[in-house]
Amino acid sequence: MLNPLIANVANPPAIVLGAIATLLIVLVTSVKGTGWEPTTDISEDVLEHRASAVPETEFPEPGNRAVGGGGGGGGAIPAGGAEGEEGELEEGGTAGSGPGDIPEDEVEYFEVEFVKQGETVELSNDQPILEQGEDEGWDLPYACRQGQCVSCAGQITDGPSEDFVEHDNQQMLEEAEIDDGYTLTCVAYPRDSFSIETGEAP
Ligand code: FES
Repeated sequence: MLNPLIANVANPPAIVLGAIATLLIVLVTSVKGTGWEPTTDISEDVLEHRASAVPETEFPEPGNRAVGGGGGGGGAIPAGGAEGEEGELEEGGTAGSGPGDIPEDEVEYFEVEFVKQGETVELSNDQPILEQGEDEGWDLPYACRQGQCVSCAGQITDGPSEDFVEHDNQQMLEEAEIDDGYTLTCVAYPRDSFSIETGEAP
């Protein structure tokens, strides 16, 4: 007769098998996952909800920032003051900061003879000679267009150039050269009628 104790001793393999099976199931489940899948990505919904909860602003975003910012330091200045001052400055600036800033109803025209081109045209007093010559379709010389070289120089043959044009911050011509009629056409605004030879530098 088999002693129960012995039978128990004989049974362990079954218990072990059971335990192994359980372990396997646990292992398989953990490797495969539980089968639970997150439903959908709710971040979109959350964002949409938040967006709809924020009231619409009156500000056109980029433009508003550009105007209010006004460059790097603009953001640090209180918005109201900065915008007001800036607006005033801009208006004030365009009204009288350069020889070309002439109100439309005060623009005058002068007869200007371009000797080398063999033509006389009417130039307004609110645009540089170079620009208006180019508008005529002439290939006039230039480089910086800021009065800082002499590439665009021309010679007014009627006398000192500043009797006939106003320079906007020309930095190259000396007094004597101006007296000789030289002008930098990129920054020279007509103030009278005259004859000019383009492409003539001192
Ligand atoms: S293009 Fe340089 S001064 Fe006119």
